[in-house]
Amino acid sequence: RLVLGRSGDLAGRRVIITAGGTHEPIDPVRYIGNRSSGKMGYSLAIEARDRGAHVLLISGPVALPAPYGIEVQRVETAVQMRDAVYSSITDADVLIMSAAVADFRPAEPAAQKIKKVSGQARGQSETDAFSLHLVQNPDILKDLAEPLQESHNRNEQPRRRLIRVGFAAETEDIIANARHKLAAKQLDLLVANDVTRSDSGFATDTNKVLIFHADGAVEDLPVMAKSDVAAAIWDRVVPFLGTM
Ligand code: CTP
Ligand code: CA
Repeated sequence: RLVLGRSGDLAGRRVIITAGGTHEPIDPVRYIGNRSSGKMGYSLAIEARDRGAHVLLISGPVALPAPYGIEVQRVETAVQMRDAVYSSITDADVLIMSAAVADFRPAEPAAQKIKKVSGQARGQSETDAFSLHLVQNPDILKDLAEPLQESHNRNEQPRRRLIRVGFAAETEDIIANARHKLAAKQLDLLVANDVTRSDSGFATDTNKVLIFHADGAVEDLPVMAKSDVAAAIWDRVVPFLGTM
């Protein structure tokens, strides 16, 4: 394919894309994770590179190689992902959160490998149950929503607006859940996919998505290769940049 490089429609733009799932440690050998492969996020990063953007790809643990020409920062946990996003966000034009961020993490990861209860001790306990105490992770995307007031009555230069795009992997009530997330996180776009379909969602090379716009418009895209979904998403982000 033609590499547009510095002449593409994202030329001179700085974009941050998060990809993959996060791993939240339980003990030194175990973690809480999810089924995200990172393919959608890596496709978005490659497409942005080909359109001329400077791309920072913040990636959870995935099996994909670092794409040529893209700065990749690898992280494990949601808190590390948040720190990586925050430390590069000031001069970014676009943030696309395609990562499946773990909503909860173990409150206190054990310093040593947790042992199972065995033998006599087990017979004496009431139950074989074992529980983990979890606490909620920060919401990276929501915490970056522009404060509603501010910006007025300030002599400082109006800060360049950050375009924020979210993803939502849903198993039910896709439309209602997506609309709610778009509004609650004050997003410019939200890309929702039905992860119960075999041709969409985690680990597949294709995706069937709905794109929700802040003005209420919804587009129902056909099943497409993730690389084509990535192109469709950037086609919709570029017009936001034109006015800046
Ligand atoms: N997200 C985030 N930080 C989190 C959780 C989610 O930035 N701690 C982002 C995801 O990367 C995605 C969007 O928010 O772009 C929606 O994620 P999703 O998990 O679908 O929504 P949640 O707000 O976590 O709601 P729930 O999982 O309860 O449906
Ligand atoms: Ca979530």
